[in-house]
Amino acid sequence: MSLPVGPVNEQYALVTGAGPEPVNIAEYERYAQSTLPRNAFGYYASGSNDMITLRENREAFGRLRLMPKILVDVSNVNMSTTILGEKVNMPICIAPTAMQRMAHDDGELATARAAYRLGTCMTASSWSTCALEDIFEAAPKGLKWFQLYVYKDRAVTLELIRRAERAGYKALAITVDTPILGRREADIKNGFALPTHLTMANFASKGGEHSQGTKSAGEKGSGLASYVASLIDRKLTWQDIAWVRKQTSMKIVVKGVMTVEGALASVRNGVDAVWISNHGARQLDTTPATIEVLPEIVRAVAGRCEVYIDGGITRGTDVLKCIALGARAVFVGRPVLWGLARGGEDGVYKALSLMREELFLAMQLSGCPTLADLKPSLVRTAFSLSSRL
Ligand code: FNR
Repeated sequence: MSLPVGPVNEQYALVTGAGPEPVNIAEYERYAQSTLPRNAFGYYASGSNDMITLRENREAFGRLRLMPKILVDVSNVNMSTTILGEKVNMPICIAPTAMQRMAHDDGELATARAAYRLGTCMTASSWSTCALEDIFEAAPKGLKWFQLYVYKDRAVTLELIRRAERAGYKALAITVDTPILGRREADIKNGFALPTHLTMANFASKGGEHSQGTKSAGEKGSGLASYVASLIDRKLTWQDIAWVRKQTSMKIVVKGVMTVEGALASVRNGVDAVWISNHGARQLDTTPATIEVLPEIVRAVAGRCEVYIDGGITRGTDVLKCIALGARAVFVGRPVLWGLARGGEDGVYKALSLMREELFLAMQLSGCPTLADLKPSLVRTAFSLSSRL
């Protein structure tokens, strides 16, 4: 049999008007970079300051080595699991990312539909460009969580909580790493603002300052940074988490935990899950990669609540490492945006299907046909050969 010659993409890939189908998430990102307006791509892609954590979120995965088991029957792979008691077909869920209609006109509605087709959970952002009710109704049978930013104005916050509960969201992911916005230099240079035809749709009825996420006339720099500075509550403490808890019967997840101390306080305060995140490296630069703090946090939590992780996860082997080191599930932010930019609902579906297929392959190649087989012993830290001699 003769082997096909030429680039793999040309031989095998479904060729669309947008060029050969991307074969990994990095190619999805490159496509998004070449098609999205600079304002939007800069907002989506950038980390804060020197973007040291942004690189570290990815590079830390590359320093972990996998130790495959041999001669295990891997003819049946099962990657389904539950998060907070709800079934998902894979442990790859969708993190909240704001303003998705900058990537595709269908925005969050497309993401919700793709999530449902994939049998996974979508977390909708407080700062979505479609209203939270419309996002829910785009795929009403799909599992959805709502990400909550706590506004200084508690009436605004309470209304968001009530609306999310009424719509059918199962959990609130309260973001605790954003008392103010991190310094994202791309946004400062681009004078980032939400394009005028879009709004922060959850606040549309309020109009004005809550719904625009933009700057006032003549103001320079990132409009979103000014928005957060004027409206989001910097005084947030555990008492406010307790206040949120009292307002709703939805499950409570604390998103933005990076330390053992933060995880233990979360457990003490009775949250349902801890979500390890450095906000996609967009807040405090030079925090560690999330994968670096996962083992110590899992050890400290000791099974008292579920632990999730996000940050730089783009490959099936990244997911494998997170689950092996104790995460219940992983969440992805930018890969969804790159999928959206490529092809709306179908683009998100394909980008996340690619990650699912990579995880499937990695589970087979590592001799771990179920998620329960993924144990810490599968992973070891890259070492220098000289230290072993
Ligand atoms: C985010 N993230 C975020 N988090 C949150 O709690 N509320 C939000 O509205 C947003 N918005 C947002 C926009 C964009 C463009 C990005 C890239 C990220 C953070 C997000 O939920 C998640 O923590 C990271 O995106 C995970 O890292 P990766 O997968 O993007 O590397």
